[in-house]
Amino acid sequence: MDCLKKTLLFLLSCTAILLSNNIVAATNVGLNYGLLGDNLPPPPQVINLYKSIGITKIRIFDPNVEVLNALRGHQDIGVTVGVKDQDLAALAASEEAVKGWFATNIEPYLTDVNITFITVGNEVIPGPLGSQVLPVVKSLTNLVESRSLQISITTVVSMANLGESYPPSSGTFTPLAREQLTPVLKFLSEKSVPILVNMYPYFPYASDPVNIHLDYATFNTEALVVQDGPLGYSNMFDAMYDAFLWAMEKEGVEDLPLVVSETGWPSAGNGDLTTPLIASTYNRNFVKHIESGKGTPKRSNCSIDGYIFATFNENLKPAGTEQHFGLFEPTDMKPVYKLF
Ligand SMILES: *[C@@H]1O[C@H](CO)[C@@H](O)[C@H](O)[C@H]1NC(C)=O
Ligand SMILES: *[C@@H]1O[C@H](CO)[C@@H](O)[C@H](O)[C@H]1NC(C)=O
Repeated sequence: MDCLKKTLLFLLSCTAILLSNNIVAATNVGLNYGLLGDNLPPPPQVINLYKSIGITKIRIFDPNVEVLNALRGHQDIGVTVGVKDQDLAALAASEEAVKGWFATNIEPYLTDVNITFITVGNEVIPGPLGSQVLPVVKSLTNLVESRSLQISITTVVSMANLGESYPPSSGTFTPLAREQLTPVLKFLSEKSVPILVNMYPYFPYASDPVNIHLDYATFNTEALVVQDGPLGYSNMFDAMYDAFLWAMEKEGVEDLPLVVSETGWPSAGNGDLTTPLIASTYNRNFVKHIESGKGTPKRSNCSIDGYIFATFNENLKPAGTEQHFGLFEPTDMKPVYKLF
């Protein structure tokens, strides 16, 4: 039922496609806005870029003051704001600290920035900081509920939570993920707030390019490549998404929305596996897939929300592919490759 309603809304929103500079963007594809570069354009220019290409959802990794100030008055852009990993320990230890964090980092923008999500930690579950996520999610949830604010509190996790992922129906969490993630999922489920998952077919492909077909990894075939019981897969993204759904289901979490907080493909840094052509194929097909509203085999006809990583190539990230996930060059904001 929910999915049908969402699909209808989605079809309506699809008619509002914007065109500019050869770039077409759908309203339900978001972009990650990373700041690990020393040659990035000033935030107001970046917000103008988003508006010119029709981006209405962005994610920032911490409550950056310059970016949040540049977003003032642009409420048509929904913003996901991250709590820094290094702040988690202090916040998990004290509800007062959470109130202070909110007063400093979110409160000043509530009147004129459209903050839709606050994410508690980025890929800290499973890991040494993993058990600090839930207390902070709970405190922030209490805080926004007591103020009747329409902000969803969640966390961002990676596919490293899966011990098994192939075929998708064998999707199972690792023991540490069961300990740290399952209680978070149950809490989010009670609140009907999505879990955010970073999902990159590039990484499994790059680790086994002989056995995994590039077309399967880049949504570039209609042929069924993996048959998993009654469900057939022609792209790896759907298989990864469904493996996560199966793993959640095994923990008793069935209807939790899953938003893809990061996906993408580097355009350089790893020889023939990372060319502008492959990166543009992956990202273009990802947008088409999201726009289609078809969902995945396991959750068909449920439209998927997804964010491409990233806006810019970031030169202060580790050398290699990490510096080449951007859609745009930082210095002149020109597209790294023609995306649409
Ligand atoms: C805030 O952003 C969300 C997500 O993009 C969007 O659905 C909503 O309409 C935006 N709010 C306003 C006031 O534009
Ligand atoms: C999804 O939509 C297609 C096309 O409208 C339809 O044939 C199919 O039965 C739907 N699947 C589900 C599970 O609702």
